[in-house]
Amino acid sequence: MIVKEQIWESLKHIEDPVYRRNMIELNLIRDILVKEDKVSLTVLLTLDSEPRKAELKKDIESALKALGTNEVHIRFRPVSDYERAEISKQLEDAAAVKAQGKPNNSILDPDSGVKFIAVASGKGGVGKSTVTVNLAVALARQGKKVGIIDADIYGFSVPDMMGIETRPSLEGERIVPVERFGVKVISMGFFVEDNAPIIWRGPMLGKMLRNFFAEVEWGDVEYVLLDLPPGTGDIALDVHSMIPHSKEIIVTTPHATAAFVAARAGAMAIRTEHEILGVVENMSYYECSACGTKDYVFGRGGGGKLAESLHTELLAQIPLGAPDNHISEPDFAPSVYKSDTKTGLLYDELAKRVLSREQ
Ligand SMILES: Nc1ncnc2c1ncn2[C@@H]1O[C@H](COP(=O)(O)OP(=O)(O)OP(=O)(O)O)[C@@H](O)[C@H]1O
Ligand SMILES: [Mg+2]
Repeated sequence: MIVKEQIWESLKHIEDPVYRRNMIELNLIRDILVKEDKVSLTVLLTLDSEPRKAELKKDIESALKALGTNEVHIRFRPVSDYERAEISKQLEDAAAVKAQGKPNNSILDPDSGVKFIAVASGKGGVGKSTVTVNLAVALARQGKKVGIIDADIYGFSVPDMMGIETRPSLEGERIVPVERFGVKVISMGFFVEDNAPIIWRGPMLGKMLRNFFAEVEWGDVEYVLLDLPPGTGDIALDVHSMIPHSKEIIVTTPHATAAFVAARAGAMAIRTEHEILGVVENMSYYECSACGTKDYVFGRGGGGKLAESLHTELLAQIPLGAPDNHISEPDFAPSVYKSDTKTGLLYDELAKRVLSREQ
């Protein structure tokens, strides 16, 4: 007959991705019931995603089969806010007891005080990455300590957009993000040779994303912006469940159809209870440099309508254009607007609005 202690022992190697401790220690595996050679148990998820469930099911089943069970029944449920608070408290207590114990420096811990802003859109190419890097740089100009996680694992673009040519260094076993324009950046692009395509499946993507939180030495960042891939796929879902306290900015173009599609990303944010900070309308108009008139080449009103339907604010309207940087300059960055440009000033305004909405 198998006893509970054996089960605990056999599952001790399974680590929780958010708290980086074993799940038994965190009391995330409960209600263990043994009946002859059948075991049933409940697993509390800090990260509620299908890939995570599949991974856990496989790990638990193989550990329990090795003990001689024939049938394993697993119930999954997400941890409640109350249980999350309990875990944080437990970890704090443990840290206090272990006076010189390693601090729990996961920026995912709500107690870390780090504020997350995910930049999402319904479809690709509307300017999420452009908005992410420019908002990050503008927040840094406002004196904030800012990081970017390029969560677009397949389609990373942040390093190129910011003109980053160096790679992260290592501090012990931790990765030190690359700093550019006062913003700390981590991207899959740093770990890929020669622009080779990424050919991983869903679970690997989630793992990589978790590493960006847990294995990276973020230091004392205050704001971390996440450049999401387009749409409402796996990564977006992982972000939703890994960082339940993240807020969101939805990017759209002024075209009515784009705004309609973007509403889906907004609806997902609402369903996952991510607070929407507002909408950024990108490529809003073309301003004639000679006469200053605005030409609304992609239509008008999409951003405003989207903001209205999501019961939020239109935070900024960014015109068409590209930064007037020069390749020879040491701070050349193809997509970053300097503060003394018209669009740079619009991003400064956006940063101020975001900060005021964050209070
Ligand atoms: N306001 C703008 N005016 C002109 N071009 C822009 C503007 N904003 C973005 N772009 C360009 O449009 C393209 C798509 O922008 P970006 O990569 O930021 O979009 P994205 O939403 O992140 O795309 P993806 O969905 O592929 O990640 C880029 O070439 C970018 O330089
Ligand atoms: Mg992008």
